[in-house]
Amino acid sequence: MNSYLTACDKNCKKARSGKTVAESTRMVDHREEIDIVATDKWANPQAMWDQRYSEPEPVYGTRPNVYLEKQAMLHFKRGGKILMPGDGYGRNGHWLARQGFAVHTVDLSPVGVQRSRKNAQDARLALKIEQADLMTWDWPVAEYDGVAAIFLHLPPEMRAKIHPAMLRALKPGGILIFEAFTPEQLQFHSGGPKDAALLYTAEVLRSDFTTAEVLELEEVRVHVDEGPKHSGMSAVVHGIFRARQ
Ligand SMILES: C[S@@+](CC[C@H](N)C(=O)[O-])C[C@H]1O[C@@H](n2cnc3c(N)ncnc32)[C@H](O)[C@@H]1O
Repeated sequence: MNSYLTACDKNCKKARSGKTVAESTRMVDHREEIDIVATDKWANPQAMWDQRYSEPEPVYGTRPNVYLEKQAMLHFKRGGKILMPGDGYGRNGHWLARQGFAVHTVDLSPVGVQRSRKNAQDARLALKIEQADLMTWDWPVAEYDGVAAIFLHLPPEMRAKIHPAMLRALKPGGILIFEAFTPEQLQFHSGGPKDAALLYTAEVLRSDFTTAEVLELEEVRVHVDEGPKHSGMSAVVHGIFRARQ
C-alpha cells in the first residue's frame, strides 16, 4: 500500500465495495487513480481502457511514440502493410498511415476504436480500424510487412499466445517493432501498469520472440512526453525483431 492509498482510503473502500471501475475512478484524483484500484482495473481491462479513452484529453497525446517514429522509417518497407495490435485511439496507427503505410489496427476498447475512427475520418485518413480482443481474434498468418506493439502490456498467459501470434502474422523477413515498460518502471510515476507481472524485460522478449532474428534489444531509461498518462523519466525495453525467411 502506498501513500496515495492512505490519502483516499475512504473512497477506495467505497470503490472496493461494489462501485463500478468507472464510478470508483471518478471518485479519486488522477495520480491516485493510477495506483489504487490497480487490481480491480486489470480484472476488467475493457472497462478500464474505455474509461481512460472517454477522457476528453487524449491520454497518450497526439504524437506518435518516439521509438516507433524513428524505427518505422528505418525498418518498415515503404508503403508496406502494417498491423498495430493494441493501438488505442490510434495516435501511432494514424501517424503510420500519414507516412503512406497500409495500416490495420486492432484494439479491445470500443471507445478507443470509435475515437480512432472519428479522428481518421476527420483527417481523411484511410486505414483499417478493428475492435477485437487479441486473445480471440483470428490472427492472420504471413500477412504483414510489419507489426508494431507499443505499450501493449499483457498478463503472462495472454503474452504467451499473443506475442508468438505477432511474429506469425509477419511475412518472412517482416519486422516487429516493440516497446514497453520494464519492472524498473515501478519506481517511477510516469505511467504503465503497477503490477510486475505485466512488465517486460529484454530476457522475456528474447524468449517470447525466440524464432525471430533480434536486430536490436535494449532496456533503457528515456524521458517520455506522451500526454498526461505517459510523462517523465521511464524505464522501457524496446527492440526490433525480424521474422525468419
Ligand atoms: C497502454 S495502451 C497503448 C495504446 C497505444 N499502443 C499507444 O501507445 O497509444 C494499451 C492498449 O492495448 C489495448 N489492449 C489491451 N489488451 C488487449 C487485448 N486483449 N486485445 C486488444 N487490445 C488490447 C488496450 O485497449 C489499450 O488501448
